[in-house]
Amino acid sequence: DSNKKFAGKTVLITAGPTYEAIDPVRFIGNHSSGKMGFSLAEEAANRGAKVILISGPSSEKTNHQDIEVHRVTSAKEMFAKVFEYYENADIAIASAAVADYAPKEIAQEKIKKNDDSLTIELVKNPDILKTMGERKTKQFLVGFALETQNEEENAKGKLHKKNLDMIILNSLRDEGAGFKGRTNKIKIITESSLTEFPLKSKEEVARDILNFVEDQMLK
Ligand code: PMT
Repeated sequence: DSNKKFAGKTVLITAGPTYEAIDPVRFIGNHSSGKMGFSLAEEAANRGAKVILISGPSSEKTNHQDIEVHRVTSAKEMFAKVFEYYENADIAIASAAVADYAPKEIAQEKIKKNDDSLTIELVKNPDILKTMGERKTKQFLVGFALETQNEEENAKGKLHKKNLDMIILNSLRDEGAGFKGRTNKIKIITESSLTEFPLKSKEEVARDILNFVEDQMLK
């Protein structure tokens, strides 16, 4: 089937938020729904790929037989799961909104409401995508950048710093882009190009992204 452009390829995708525990009942998280990552997984599988989808807490589901879903909670768990599969991946796409920091200590018991203020010390989480860039052998590596200011400059910075082949920029300044909703508005940035797309459903955005990956890999 000539439409199965990713036949024989393994695609590793991260999706969703991570939750960083504060105590047994509370966490630090973010608004990612996992929709963008699950849409990418469906589209890659429809093109014949074997997909390893590593998702933080999300209510998204898939029944596609060529998508293997691994559910994780924290950034450290996502890191560990990603590197069980990264070495064999041909394409890796990081659409997860990974928490940059996690509480230094997780309280064993529910924190009581005693004091007027409460300080939680945070420490940096491992950067999963940056580590993928450092360990890159054959992988075509795609990152996302969720920005609120100096968008293109910041995205280009991440392209270089994380040793990526391309980066998808979505801006929270664009209506209908980014978290939660069913739509997204992206720019695809490579070393030598910047391509802007209109507002579309996340399914259509996934198609645009994988078309672009296909073109880049054939070059
Ligand atoms: O899930 P949805 O509701 O559909 O929303 C989709 C989305 C907005 C979450 C998605 O399109 C998106 O932009 N994902 C990346 C969000 C993000 O955390 O961006 P960032 O600029 O902070 O991170 C840059 C890149 O590094 C991302 O590819 C991220 O996955 C990766 N990263 C970041 C930190 C970290 N510790 N490890 C990482 O791998």
